[in-house]
Amino acid sequence: MRIGMLTGGGDCPGLNAVIRAVVRKGEESYGHEIVGFRHGWRGVIENEHVVLTVPRTRGLLPRGGTILGTSRTNPYKREGGVEAVHATLAKERIDALVAIGGEDTLGVATRLGDEGVAIVGVPKTIDNDLSATDVTFGFDTAVQVAVDAIDRLHTTAESHDRVMVVEVMGRHAGWIALHAGMGGGANVILVPEEPFDVDEVCERLRLRHDHGIASSIVVVAEGAAPKEGTMALQEAGVDEFGHVRLGGIGNLLAPEIEARTGFETRVTILGHVLRGGTPTAFDRILATRFGLEAIDAVNESDFGTMVALRGMAIVRVPIEDAVKELKTVPPALLEQTKVFSG
Ligand code: F6P
Repeated sequence: MRIGMLTGGGDCPGLNAVIRAVVRKGEESYGHEIVGFRHGWRGVIENEHVVLTVPRTRGLLPRGGTILGTSRTNPYKREGGVEAVHATLAKERIDALVAIGGEDTLGVATRLGDEGVAIVGVPKTIDNDLSATDVTFGFDTAVQVAVDAIDRLHTTAESHDRVMVVEVMGRHAGWIALHAGMGGGANVILVPEEPFDVDEVCERLRLRHDHGIASSIVVVAEGAAPKEGTMALQEAGVDEFGHVRLGGIGNLLAPEIEARTGFETRVTILGHVLRGGTPTAFDRILATRFGLEAIDAVNESDFGTMVALRGMAIVRVPIEDAVKELKTVPPALLEQTKVFSG
């Protein structure tokens, strides 16, 4: 078989580990030829590809990013985009596609699957907000990077008696904020799932000061928003999938906290740092297992499926199960963290 592979959406530590695993098993165990499309769906539309071989994919396991490049291109939003995808697949004699991505990339994969393209999906996102899989690779790395940063912020916060606002990624779901906050010992965790009340945040910080603790850590997800009418927000642009470009709530929140409490407050925006660099061992292993299962699924012509983690097992689920609804932080989990706010 001649198998196409692409990585779409925001990059994520572990993508290269998936590529390596697909190529290794695809070529050596099954004798398939793997063709990598560049920059997600854009490379399929424009037929920009590279043949991936075992020698070309050696040494990729610890490497962050994606050697294929990525983009947020949506063929359904480009004039002639879908026709171009079909034309490329026919011209390059692609028998099946492995699409590695998040809700957007897999959403396109689902639609193309309905149109007859033989596709297997691999879930990826540092946000961990995809349904149908317990975890996506990249999330563990993002949390670890954030916890390392928060550990460092604790000591400087203590030295200066400051409040530190730490902004992390997480557009619609607060998984990174929740886990980074729990792992890093934050005092306040703000997530997109629950609009926050700035006064209540300040009250929690004041309470700590009343107990003689003059420094605090507030972790805020980039998609967290104040309750309506309590704080002004910035307007931002959107991408081809209609997502608002976020990043900046920390810069709005920090001065509000300082003004309302009188506590000196600083902000650190971790942003893309969470997505860069080498994957943790957990993410390398998960990505490798996903890649191996994906090429097995292709080899068995089990199309329209996505590989997923359930407990400790790698399973296959219908791709559309992953994109039906976002996996968000349950209120009970968030509630548990509030015991550390005083
Ligand atoms: O891929 C998910 C994500 O990391 C979100 O957490 C974040 O909002 C977004 O990507 C940032 O995208 P970009 O790199 O295109 O600015």
